Amino acid sequence: MTYSHQLPHILHVVGARPNFMKVAPVLRALATRPAVKQTLVHTGQHYDANMSDVFFRQLEIPAPDVNLSVGAGSHAWQTAEIMIRFEPVVQQCEPDVVVVYGDVNSTAAAALVCAKLNVPVAHVEAGLRSFDRTMPEEINRLVTDQLSDLLLTPSLDGNRNLAREGIAPGKVAFVGNVMIDTLARLLPLAIQTVPADLPKCYGLLTLHRPSNVDNPEILRSILQTLLEFTDELDIFFPLHPRTQRRLDEFGLTCLCQRKMRLMDPLPYVEFLGLQHRATCVITDSGGIQEEATFLGVPCLTVRENTERPITVTCGTNTLVGRNMDLLTAEIRRILAGQGKLGARPELWDGRAGERIADCLLERYAQGTLWNAPQSQSMFAPAETAQ
Ligand code: UD1
Repeated sequence: MTYSHQLPHILHVVGARPNFMKVAPVLRALATRPAVKQTLVHTGQHYDANMSDVFFRQLEIPAPDVNLSVGAGSHAWQTAEIMIRFEPVVQQCEPDVVVVYGDVNSTAAAALVCAKLNVPVAHVEAGLRSFDRTMPEEINRLVTDQLSDLLLTPSLDGNRNLAREGIAPGKVAFVGNVMIDTLARLLPLAIQTVPADLPKCYGLLTLHRPSNVDNPEILRSILQTLLEFTDELDIFFPLHPRTQRRLDEFGLTCLCQRKMRLMDPLPYVEFLGLQHRATCVITDSGGIQEEATFLGVPCLTVRENTERPITVTCGTNTLVGRNMDLLTAEIRRILAGQGKLGARPELWDGRAGERIADCLLERYAQGTLWNAPQSQSMFAPAETAQ
């Protein structure tokens, strides 16, 4: 890679709801640095106003320079279509580095395009592993990390996973959790949006993983377990479009409507407002496990594993899997005031965006973004040296 001009050109790729809270702090941090050119590409993987536009508004993300308008499809179709539409954008923009976020199909598709075009890739939220290859996100994480030139990890388990997979330590930097930057910035606003008539005790439920919502028996068993508690615990249930469709298809909407508060997908600020006051969160999302840990709200994760083990070992998260007796027992424990308290993990401090900006610009200045030498990681020398 030759650096033909002095002005670093950084191209960011986002596509789905969980990407937006991660890109916002990086864009903001880089915008304050002199002479950085930034381009934002939205793949259009998520396209509904309440899955995308409202996040751009609330998080003050500038309108994308390019929208690939890909939309929904099978994994192969969506990934391939993003690649086909993204390749000419990279060829035209000639960025010095492309930054990809998280583990969605847009992340892996963009990394593949750049690797083939010999354009350096930086991966924000690198190194997380569930060790469950039946999860499409795990495949996206593995592919993206193998192809990335700079791997920015949110927690040190990420550094250990990457070392185990043979990633050169010099490519890895422990920068902390960038999603927490957005949370910390918008929490005061979120607190103001909380309705005055919120019940004292309520659970916040989100389910969207195909493994939970595409099977009528599994979805019904989760919902029936929770319905047992609705006399003691109000349940707010914002619905992902897929979940909404499945509830209708399986004839479960009426069952829920009677005893739960079903809602459209909530904007970021309103969701955060509800989350910070919740008695507990019940979820299969990745990001919500982290947010609940930061907020100190007990979180019950309806999955057999997590790529974010630090939320269990250090934070407020408990994996209940598909064990509905365990879900029941954990809710009882929380209602008895014995929910997990947890602590905030290292570098979940609202400054990860600044560290990512520093790291990108330092590496650019040194000319080490591409084929980074096997030097020590700048943020975690002890860990990555293993
Ligand atoms: C994607 C990510 C997942 C992330 C989730 C957050 C992958 C493999 N999965 O899953 O990691 O946790 O986003 O929401 O990338 N749909 C709409 N409107 C939209 C977006 C989606 O109606 O704006 C519907 C479409 O019909 C689509 C379905 O929801 O078929 C699923 O969308 P998709 O982007 O394929 O995956 P998610 O389940 O959202």
